[in-house]
Amino acid sequence: MKNINYGIIGTGYFGAHLGRILSKLEGAKVVSIYDPENTKNISEELGCEVSENIQELCAREDIDAIIVASPNGAHREAVLEAAKNKKHVFCEKPIALSYKDCSEMIDATKKNGVIFMAGHVMNFMNGVRKIKQLINDGVIGEVLHCHSMRNGWEKEQKEISWKKIKELSGGHLYHHIHELDFIQFIMGVPEKVTMVGGNIAHQGEKFGDEDDALFITLEFPNKRFATLQYGSAFRWPDHSVKIQGTKGAILLDLQDVGVTLKIDDKEEKFLLHRTKEEDDDRTRIYKGLEMDGAIMYGKPDRIPPLWLHGIMEMEMEFLHNALQGAEIDKEFIPLLDGTAARDSILTADALTKSLQEDRKVKLSELL
Ligand SMILES: NC(=O)c1ccc[n+]([C@@H]2O[C@H](COP(=O)([O-])OP(=O)(O)OC[C@H]3O[C@@H](n4cnc5c(N)ncnc54)[C@H](O)[C@@H]3O)[C@@H](O)[C@H]2O)c1
Repeated sequence: MKNINYGIIGTGYFGAHLGRILSKLEGAKVVSIYDPENTKNISEELGCEVSENIQELCAREDIDAIIVASPNGAHREAVLEAAKNKKHVFCEKPIALSYKDCSEMIDATKKNGVIFMAGHVMNFMNGVRKIKQLINDGVIGEVLHCHSMRNGWEKEQKEISWKKIKELSGGHLYHHIHELDFIQFIMGVPEKVTMVGGNIAHQGEKFGDEDDALFITLEFPNKRFATLQYGSAFRWPDHSVKIQGTKGAILLDLQDVGVTLKIDDKEEKFLLHRTKEEDDDRTRIYKGLEMDGAIMYGKPDRIPPLWLHGIMEMEMEFLHNALQGAEIDKEFIPLLDGTAARDSILTADALTKSLQEDRKVKLSELL
């Protein structure tokens, strides 16, 4: 098997841990990293070099692939530089904060013949793969509508993270693109969308400037619908996706963690993560109020919890195997060229327009 050398741009909470995971895989080595602040501890831990800037890192001849885990608004520059240097790219979600930027990144990676994998880690949850299989096998019939909630309450912040600043993170909708992306995976791209909401309870210097309550409606062809809620103005936290079919329904519960298939009055349960221990650990974190609902954020000095480590590990194994030339499961192909991720950002852009212009927006208006 071919050895693959990696470079990492952004070694905070997520980038550092992706590096830890990669460095344990056979035939994988993190050669150098770039981060304007957090390189000392992680470069010592990984035994790798530190580059002065993105250009220097991406130009290194001994690097095959670049992991981009900088703040969302900085992904574009890093991906374009990596592509220019013919490096494969894995880019954290959201890959960019506009459809236009996503397209530029996709074009650049395509032109240079490199992989552009989006860090849509939810696809690697065993329970999510099970749900897709149940739907593909027709177990719940035709999907009529879906509803997702990713809500909690944000307390006053000691410091305002970039994750709370709309220009850098995109706000809840872009930063937590996972649920929208998952629904689009099941139902396709909507025709028309509406979003209402705003910053209704978190103004002032102890908070960022993102909207803290977003209420979304997606309309698909043939009278199919989805509704989504995102935000940090919800004293009653929720984190789930309900999928309603003509023959049955599925609940993906990310708070009291697990997957439930319901056909008439019969319920069948599945694990969401790899083991019961991982599912229980995630439930414990929510119930122990270590999170403000579904909106807790990691920081550079933190290590991801067990369940998150599990899916990050599966995601990095997948990337590494793909770069080593393994055959790709059909399910994952749209994840490897940025197109599925761009479809979600297209919808997010249309939703943003809907909120700004106070009207229903057709996705075709943005193309
Ligand atoms: N898939 C998931 O579930 C998941 C979870 C957490 C974070 N993420 C994503 O990972 C990325 C990083 O988030 P995080 O939680 O590690 O944030 P973080 O704040 O912990 O780390 C970000 C790091 O980027 C560095 N940085 C700032 N500007 C930079 C630039 N221009 N170039 C390179 N590095 C820069 C910072 O110094 C910091 O070390 C984000 O895109 C985020 O959305 C994904």
